[in-house]
Amino acid sequence: MSHRILLLGAPGAGKGTQSAKLADEYGVEHVTTGDALRANKDMETEYGTPRSFMEAGELVPDPVVNEIVEAALADADGFVLDGYPRNPDQAEYLSSITDLDAVIYLAVDDEVLVDRLTGRRVCDDCGANFHVDFQPPEEAGVCDDCGGELIQRDDDTEETARERLEVFYENTEPVIDHFRDEGDLVEVDGEATPDEVFERIRGVLDE
Ligand code: AP5
Repeated sequence: MSHRILLLGAPGAGKGTQSAKLADEYGVEHVTTGDALRANKDMETEYGTPRSFMEAGELVPDPVVNEIVEAALADADGFVLDGYPRNPDQAEYLSSITDLDAVIYLAVDDEVLVDRLTGRRVCDDCGANFHVDFQPPEEAGVCDDCGGELIQRDDDTEETARERLEVFYENTEPVIDHFRDEGDLVEVDGEATPDEVFERIRGVLDE
């Protein structure tokens, strides 16, 4: 059976880390608006480039993001969706283009989120995720997977990380409340090692 999984959580909650594991485990596509937008940061749209919104920690306008998601889901035989929907209008759009089998919310305390974001390093070549304290690479600054250079994302400074958290509480929390009110949301405690969190999610999905 193909899975249609929605993974919700604040910036730094571990959505990217867990989505990659889920995509491997269940053989589904990892659909991530953040990665898609980073790969097209300088694309000209009628609203400006994605870069101008992302570097300020703001949301990229809905029409740009909706189009990316619709195209990605149309091609996917099962998916784990990460980074979308981020406001009620995106949630309504999503419900018009697909059904979901599971909605999981990764709950993590704010100060832990800021530590995770500011310490994150990503591989410039393959995109693998590391953390200077929580998931350090074997050799500092070098990707374990491909030997590429590890860099800090432009939006992982403390100031922008805190702005992203504010944007999350203002825009995305109502989406989480909506799924919770509908009885569709399963909350998973995201404060454990990545492997432990993965086991918790797998437990929910295999039920
Ligand atoms: P996006 O890339 O989606 O960023 P985000 O939602 O802010 O999430 P992150 O990627 O920062 O965190 P994550 O939850 O994936 O955590 P991760 O696994 O990396 O979006 C970026 C920007 O794009 C937005 O600000 C916006 O401008 C734009 N955008 C994207 N989608 C949009 C949309 N739908 N609409 C409009 N605009 C949109 O983990 C973080 C760190 O913690 C890593 O270093 C990792 O190693 C570590 N870590 C992970 N799990 C654990 C653990 N269990 N224990 C210890 N450390 C851990």
